[in-house]
Amino acid sequence: MRPLIGASFKMNLTSTEVRRYIEVFRPLAEPLTACDLFLLPPFTSLWVARDCLRGSNVAWGAQDVHHEASGAHTGDVSAAMLADLGCTFVEVGHSERRHDHSETDDMIALKVKQVVVHRMTPILNVGEPVRSAIATAVEYVTGQVRRGLHRLPAKDWSQVVIAYEPVWAIGVGATAADPDHVETMHAAIRNVTDGAKTRVVYGGSVNPETAGPIAAMPHVDGLFVGRAALDPVVFAAIARAAQ
Ligand code: PGA
Repeated sequence: MRPLIGASFKMNLTSTEVRRYIEVFRPLAEPLTACDLFLLPPFTSLWVARDCLRGSNVAWGAQDVHHEASGAHTGDVSAAMLADLGCTFVEVGHSERRHDHSETDDMIALKVKQVVVHRMTPILNVGEPVRSAIATAVEYVTGQVRRGLHRLPAKDWSQVVIAYEPVWAIGVGATAADPDHVETMHAAIRNVTDGAKTRVVYGGSVNPETAGPIAAMPHVDGLFVGRAALDPVVFAAIARAAQ
């Protein structure tokens, strides 16, 4: 399987800044032909991604979606709107959204379904909240995976990407999980999806140093990057190290 290497800008970069980012990143990405690349800018810049990445080897997508198809949900964004902007990927259930917006596993399962119905690829985020014994982490995370997928028939699970992102490894001051920990967790997640060709990628403090060793683990199908990818040169270096 080709590694999948993606970045979320989270709540960073204006539309003007996203345009400048892509101007730098697109030529750096062009020679990276051994991996699949994507960027998730904020909603407000999806049109910039569409206009500036069209025809390139970099896909784009969104960081969230509403769990219903349409209606009276002020300020929210539907899967149809994202599909119309050419999105390939839609992240759902990031730990920051679970925390900041009280998103439940069932809401997340509905979002996964919405994304698949609109022929895009959901990136279902899972991860244990604190560093814990491996058995505890496996139980927690595989539960999240099962509940996140439960509204999709198993035949559609291959259309989902699972991002394993231990919450303790994300953000300022954190460090990435050890490759061995990641490998064990990914193997456990793969057991749940049982033969479906669901890609399992790792996220949490990925940088050019941690990218290579983690991406080399047999059950790791790619990387999902936050902070380090805010610099297009660094994100390109991560993808180069991982592919
Ligand atoms: P980070 O974020 O790379 O800044 O730790 C990762 C993520 O939340 O996906």
